[in-house]
Amino acid sequence: MAEHQTVITALSAVLPDLAPADITSKLEAPKDAKLGDVAFPTFTLAKVLKKAPQMIAAELVENIDQSAFEKVVATGPYINFFLDKKEVTAQTLKTVLAAGLDYGQNDDGKGANIALDMSSPNIAKPMSMGHLRSTVIGNALANLSAKNGYNPVKINHLGDWGTQFGKLIYAYKTWGSEEEVKADPIATLLKYYVEFHDKAKENPELDDEGRAWFKKLEDGDPEAHKLWAWFREESLKEFTEIYDRLGITFDSYNGEAFYNDKMDRVVKALEDKDLLEESQGAQIVDLSKVNENLTPAMIKRTDGATLYMTRDLAAAMYRKDEYNFAKSLYVVGGEQREHFQQLKAVLSLLDLPWADDVEHIPFGLITFNGKKMSTRKGDVVLLKDVLDDAHELALKQIEEKNPTLANKDQVAEEVGAGAVVFHDLMNDRTNNFDFKIEEVVRFEGDTGPYVQYTNARAQSILRKAGVEVDTSNISLDDAATWDTITTLNEFPKTVRRAFLNREPSIVAKFALHLARTFNKYYANSKILADDENKNGRLALVAAVSDTLSASLQILGVSAPKEM
Ligand code: ARG
Repeated sequence: MAEHQTVITALSAVLPDLAPADITSKLEAPKDAKLGDVAFPTFTLAKVLKKAPQMIAAELVENIDQSAFEKVVATGPYINFFLDKKEVTAQTLKTVLAAGLDYGQNDDGKGANIALDMSSPNIAKPMSMGHLRSTVIGNALANLSAKNGYNPVKINHLGDWGTQFGKLIYAYKTWGSEEEVKADPIATLLKYYVEFHDKAKENPELDDEGRAWFKKLEDGDPEAHKLWAWFREESLKEFTEIYDRLGITFDSYNGEAFYNDKMDRVVKALEDKDLLEESQGAQIVDLSKVNENLTPAMIKRTDGATLYMTRDLAAAMYRKDEYNFAKSLYVVGGEQREHFQQLKAVLSLLDLPWADDVEHIPFGLITFNGKKMSTRKGDVVLLKDVLDDAHELALKQIEEKNPTLANKDQVAEEVGAGAVVFHDLMNDRTNNFDFKIEEVVRFEGDTGPYVQYTNARAQSILRKAGVEVDTSNISLDDAATWDTITTLNEFPKTVRRAFLNREPSIVAKFALHLARTFNKYYANSKILADDENKNGRLALVAAVSDTLSASLQILGVSAPKEM
């Protein structure tokens, strides 16, 4: 209840022994709005004051300075405050309009770094819906970090190393062609990879060929390295097209290969603490003393090759050195839960004081029209196609609603991509959900376009008004705006809660709620009528637009002014 500073001030004056934070935590919303806007229960004071709660409430009301309220009354054991709605309204609108898009910004993080491991697709494969989730959730968490006063560092931990590149090099050299790869890089590389697996079913010796080429790659063979670098570069080009369409950038593209020469320190640290054990020729760390359910972490394979885990250990240490993070978040699907439990367990066995700052942020699975996707079988839904379809659907609706709009194609892109991103973020992070494009790209219902459309509608009212809002003199006496005002007031607290829970859906749900509340008001009132409340109403419209835009900004969804 961020708006209740007046209540806290009034209660503090009559209860000097109670800290304001204690008062705040006791405040409730009355069961019935007719009873008031804020209630303060006196039960817990009864013991200290050795009086009946009813009596305490009655006595306190006598002494409370009522001037800042419509009224304050004792109802049984409760003190019920009726806020001076006009005053709260004016204060709220002033606060929002003074901050503009910075509304909700706080300084909790004091500039500390937050490392975010996000997106992290595997090269030579199309980016999956899972990687899309990691990308957009990671981006929203980065924006939320910034809004809470931290400095986010967005890291794309590309899957650019592993035995599959040996297979790919073999396939390319044996039946591939440069022109074919150049024409359509990821699709072609994926085709070679799928073909390799098909052929290896009949010819298991192909696997040995693949392994041999990966060994060459690890040993720095120039031909192998050149092909790998080329596959990586072509893949990145395609990934970047998608990131550009989503408006997402990264601070680092250090992927798995980057850690090839940084793993000795991991092995050395484990040896120093006597944590490495041999098991069937491989080097492992027993984690049962941390958690009896955890299987051992594999550090080196039988052939001496290092692993995903070893690279992640090296990456964790590197990031601590490089960024001195306050938190290191890994936005990776729930299916890797055990991997991150193991990672944290090893870091804690190494007695690294920051092991607790490492957090896995899991998320649920997206199915596509009810189907799961599998890269190995080659039946993938390409993100590019999803974004193209969303664009087309958005354009169709714009053609219907606003055929004379100037830059339709640009807006359709913002609405289409925004719809896909918003839908992803609106669901609780760990929920699984199904993706049906027709439900996602709609201007009505719980969708991104609905929020965007509400904002555009607010902007259109402000244009029609033809006058600037006078922010120095805001006064609005209109009971119908109260729901919108209290919702606007919730935003700063929402921004905090969303960050602390690592849950962008809290912001998405807030935006939907604000849009709905405002539309209800809009449908029932004449905003542009020329009366003494006109400037106040326009201030409200501008504040709603600022707050919707700030919410969409956190989610990484654009807020077109017309659509
Ligand atoms: N490339 C991995 C995958 O697609 C995800 C990497 C996640 N990040 C990490 N540091 N392990 O499954």
